[in-house]
Amino acid sequence: MGRDLTRRGLLVGGAVAAGSTLAATGGYLAASRPDERPGSAATPTTEPFHGPHQAGIATEPQTQAAFLGLDLRPGTDREALGRLMRILTDDARRLTEGEPGLADAQPQLAGIPARLTVTFGFGPGLFTAAGVGRRPDTDLPAFPIDRLQDRWSGGDLLVQLCADDTVTLAHALRLIAKDARAFATVRWTQRGFRRPPTSQPAGQTQRNMMGQLDGTVQPSDLDRAVWIGDGPEWLRGGTLMVLRRIRMDLEEWDAADEAAKEFSIGRRLSNGAPLTGGREHDAPDFQAKDRIGFPVIHEAAHIRRAHVADPARRMLRRGYNYDEAISSDGVTETGLIFASYQADIARQFVPVQRRLADLDLLNTWTTPIGSAVFVLPPGCAPGGWIGEALLA
Ligand code: HEM
Repeated sequence: MGRDLTRRGLLVGGAVAAGSTLAATGGYLAASRPDERPGSAATPTTEPFHGPHQAGIATEPQTQAAFLGLDLRPGTDREALGRLMRILTDDARRLTEGEPGLADAQPQLAGIPARLTVTFGFGPGLFTAAGVGRRPDTDLPAFPIDRLQDRWSGGDLLVQLCADDTVTLAHALRLIAKDARAFATVRWTQRGFRRPPTSQPAGQTQRNMMGQLDGTVQPSDLDRAVWIGDGPEWLRGGTLMVLRRIRMDLEEWDAADEAAKEFSIGRRLSNGAPLTGGREHDAPDFQAKDRIGFPVIHEAAHIRRAHVADPARRMLRRGYNYDEAISSDGVTETGLIFASYQADIARQFVPVQRRLADLDLLNTWTTPIGSAVFVLPPGCAPGGWIGEALLA
């Protein structure tokens, strides 16, 4: 099946052949993104804010991201949360449409929305503050590989901002942080990046900072894998997000040769093909043996350990690279802001992460240093606000 057919015909139409594995981008392509070459006039500059789901999840990933983790100030109760979410929703709606926020001190910066999306997530502390006893299970067990730091973990309220323009993103981030100030303090900010559509056509799998194509295997059907279809009204159409900050030891990775690198993942560095296949989207053959009877894809290879056979049970991965301060002797602080979206944490994320924590060759070079889980409520209609059905 040609990529174009997949993209425009099947995915946009919503009908997906059972068992097929989507290209990362295929799943993201919304009707708002017609066929276009990078930089062409057809490239849309706005992503719709309103709808049954929040934007920024099934949206084809933008180039820049900022994840803002907020802690509610003591005394921020349900009524105050309602005010906060009305204000932040209003900011998000205006900014994504290229309009300045109400209290925007730099309205000149608002005119280029650059596919900005602003996505809100509620952490356990927000439910407590709102006096809502019943919430989806978002607890993660402790994983033996974790070296979690408080400064990258937890949070009552998440604001995820993504855009194709760094200035747009910085402006939106500042306005949101400022408007949240009376209600919450900043716990952490994580900034991430991917290649822009001017460098790499939209629709191709991107590389992470280890050089691998990352994001090949995605769920086949977002309605089953990502969006929550039942439960209370405030949850239906929402999803659950796991955000993990994973440090890469690139100095050690540099010391590994290409064969070892490919062995650890089970895919080729050149084109992302499984070691048992020739092309990126070929299905890996986990039964295949080499001439002396060893599995071609090692028992501890990342893709074998992470694999979920049922495409409807897969998490949607939408990660960003990070690259922070460089030390005086030239060592970078680099890694992956792993962001996954799934309808059910306990059935989708936890079993995969458990398997990886027990055994995964990739663990030699990667260490989770931050972790947070959020409930992302559904989107809203014009005039509504995010979280309304929960907080009003
Ligand atoms: C820095 C850390 C990580 C790196 C560098 C990494 C890299 C990769 C790469 C290169 C692939 C193969 C291409 C693809 O399908 O995307 C892959 C697949 C995958 N990864 Fe990771 N990954 C990391 C962490 C994680 C974590 C924390 C999880 C979930 C707990 C995860 C879940 C998956 C899944 C579900 C697949 C698809 C497996 C399949 O069915 O083939 N990865 N990852």
